[in-house]
Amino acid sequence: MSVQQIMNSRRSVRHYDPDYKISADKLAAIIETASKSPNGNNVQATRYLIIDDPELRAALLPVAYHQQQVVEASALIVMLGDYRAFEEDNIKHIHEQGYQAGYYDETLIDVLAHAAIQYYANKSAEELKLELTRDVSLASMSLVMLAKEAGLDTITMSGYDSGKLKEVLNISDRYLDVMLIAIGKGIKDGHPTVRHPVERIMHRNAIM
Ligand SMILES: Cc1cc2nc3c(=O)[nH]c(=O)nc-3n(C[C@H](O)[C@H](O)[C@H](O)COP(=O)(O)O)c2cc1C
Repeated sequence: MSVQQIMNSRRSVRHYDPDYKISADKLAAIIETASKSPNGNNVQATRYLIIDDPELRAALLPVAYHQQQVVEASALIVMLGDYRAFEEDNIKHIHEQGYQAGYYDETLIDVLAHAAIQYYANKSAEELKLELTRDVSLASMSLVMLAKEAGLDTITMSGYDSGKLKEVLNISDRYLDVMLIAIGKGIKDGHPTVRHPVERIMHRNAIM
């Protein structure tokens, strides 16, 4: 399937075969490729928390306002951003790895790492949250498309109580929860949806 075919045929699917299990390898392969998504300064802040424990899934059902995909999909993925990715040790480590791989020469490591460290050091809490939201959202879309290519269905979800989710899963403030993604074998097609005509959404040079 081409990217265009994937984009045109994907739907948010809300009904899943509860007996279908995605293999750990298949899920890991999808996540590994999704991790190639663009991300700010390549700090690689996105974390994919797979919830496949039935008890945890049952506990999350009311947290997500009883949306059945939470328990019926093969896996539920909590898409998280890790605030620690902005810290100096992570940024230096990634630049060192890039150097070891031969992607840039020695003179550039310190300059690039320093620029990235400073970029985040000067940001407010709100700006850092936006940085994580951008990175995690791009990775989420990649995951959705890769799942479709692999013959799986998904739904991205923000319909849940963030505080309660973090409490049930014991997620600390180190992480920002950006969205949930349910993934599995759909048993009922997602309903078709409309989109604005391109003239309404595409603007040139200015927008009112
Ligand atoms: C960030 C985000 C959060 C969403 N949250 C929910 C949700 O909690 N429950 C739900 O049924 N659909 C949810 N959706 C799915 C949207 O309703 C759906 O993408 C939209 O209606 C367009 O339909 P389509 O994805 O089938 O093209 C969410 C989508 C996005 C991008």
